[in-house]
Formats: sequence, structure tokens, C-alpha cells
Amino acid sequence: MKLLPFIPLPLLLLGVSSQDLETKNKCSYTLGKSVFACAELTDVNKNVDQFLTPNTRMLIIKTSEKAMFTPYHHNKTNYKYVVNYNIVENNKLDIEEMAFYGMVNLRYMKINGNSYSRVKNHTFKGLDSLELLNLAGNNISEIEKDAFSGLQNLITLDIANNNVDVVKSNLFSDLINLKTLLLERNNIKIVEENGFFGLTSLNLLDLNFNSIRTPTFSKFATLKYGDKVEELSNFKIVQKEQKE
Ligand SMILES: *[C@@H]1O[C@H](CO)[C@@H](O)[C@H](O)[C@H]1NC(C)=O
Ligand SMILES: *[C@@H]1O[C@H](CO)[C@@H](O)[C@H](O)[C@H]1NC(C)=O
Ligand SMILES: *[C@@H]1O[C@H](CO)[C@@H](O)[C@H](O)[C@H]1NC(C)=O
Repeated sequence: MKLLPFIPLPLLLLGVSSQDLETKNKCSYTLGKSVFACAELTDVNKNVDQFLTPNTRMLIIKTSEKAMFTPYHHNKTNYKYVVNYNIVENNKLDIEEMAFYGMVNLRYMKINGNSYSRVKNHTFKGLDSLELLNLAGNNISEIEKDAFSGLQNLITLDIANNNVDVVKSNLFSDLINLKTLLLERNNIKIVEENGFFGLTSLNLLDLNFNSIRTPTFSKFATLKYGDKVEELSNFKIVQKEQKE
């Protein structure tokens, strides 16, 4: 009979990586695992996935040093149950195109107070259930032309308190159910031709505290080809010129 060789204790622990340990220290479940929240992770990309359960409805990632979401980052089993996702006050946030693809039940997303400067093409593609997208109070200076592609069910889009200077043509053209578009307190100077094209359900467009030249605005900001925004009766624009 052979004796089993002696196995040193650290080897028994090899199944647990240092990332797992960090996640255990900095993340927590509440409400019977329906909420999973992480604060101050050093690198979100590698940590969170395996801790989500089929009961996770709300995911919170806050105050991390770095959060980088690569294409298809969320196309993994348990992300598809998440309904509510908050990504807030992270130090470096970078989101690649198709990053949220697979989160088919996501309805409410808040991305606020991060150092997040560029919203890339197709960032939100695949979020077929998304109703609220709150991007307020980041440092967004550029929104690429196809950034909001595929968001047919979106009702509210809040981009207030950022640094956007141009509304590109057809930027919102997939948002056929959008009712509220908040763009106040940016630095918008130019609305390109058809900048607001396709927003056929819109009730409120808030453009307060930007620097849009009114002639440019009325000439180019058409909702539908031929319709000037100010002629649409069910539609309210609030706009105060920013003092320069
Ligand atoms: C997304 O995940 C599903 C299920 O695991 C898989 O079948 C599909 O190929 C993935 N798609 C992409 C583009 O990664
Ligand atoms: C915001 O973005 C600008 C460039 O677009 C950059 O110069 C500035 O440092 C950023 N501020 C923060 C707080 O990240
Ligand atoms: C984003 O999409 C637009 C329109 O399809 C394209 O012109 C632009 O080059 C894209 N931007 C990047 C960085 O790929």
C-alpha cells in the first residue's frame, strides 16, 4: 500500500486566485443574492462574472480604480438575469462596442460620475429591454454616431452634465420610443443635419445651458425630414442660451 504524498497547504488553496479573494473582500450580496455590489475593486474586468447567480437582479460596480468592458464582456450566463445595473464613480471607465450584449433583461442602467469620456459605436447593442439609460455627470466629450444603435425600447435618455459639443447626424435615429431626452448642461455648439431625426415619440427635449446658435438649430435640427422641431405641437423644447 502506498502512502499519499504530503501536500503542502498553499497548494490546496491554489483553486482560489487573488482576484477571487479581492472580490470576496470588496463585494457583497444582499437581499438573498438578488443584489450584488462591489466597491473599490482594482480591476473589474477580471473579478465579477463568476459571483453572479441566476437570482442576481441588480448589479452595482462603484468606486473601482479601473473598469474596462471589452466586446461581449457581459455575454456570460448569469448577466442575462440582471434587470438593474449601476456603474458609478469609477476612476477609469472604458466601454467597448458590444460590451453589454447578452443582457437581454436589463431595463435600467445608470452610468454616472465616472471618468468616462467617449461613448463608442454600438456600446448598448443587444439591450433589447432597456427603458432607462442614465449617462449624466460623466465627462463625456464625444458620442460616436452609432452609439445608441439598437435601443428601440428606450424611453428615457439622460446625458445631462457632460461635455458634449456636437450632436451628430442620426445619433438618435433608432430611438423610436424615446419620450424624454435630457441634454442640459453640456457644451453643445453644433447640431448636425438630422441630429434629432427619428425621435417620433419625443415629449421633452431639454437643451438648457448649452451654446447652440439658434439659426443653426432651426435650420438643421429636423425630427423628420421636412418637420422643423418648433412646428411639432406635442413636443416641448426647453432651451436657455448659456452665458458666455
Ligand atoms: C453569446 O453567448 C451565447 C451563449 O453562451 C453564445 O451562444 C453566443 O455565441 C455568444 N455570442 C457572442 C457574439 O459571443
Ligand atoms: C474630462 O475630459 C477632458 C478632455 O475631454 C480632460 O481634459 C479632463 O481632464 C477630464 N476631466 C476628468 C475629471 O476626467
Ligand atoms: C462609428 O460609426 C460611424 C457611422 O457608421 C462611422 O462613420 C465611424 O467611423 C465610427 N467610428 C469609429 C471610431 O469606428
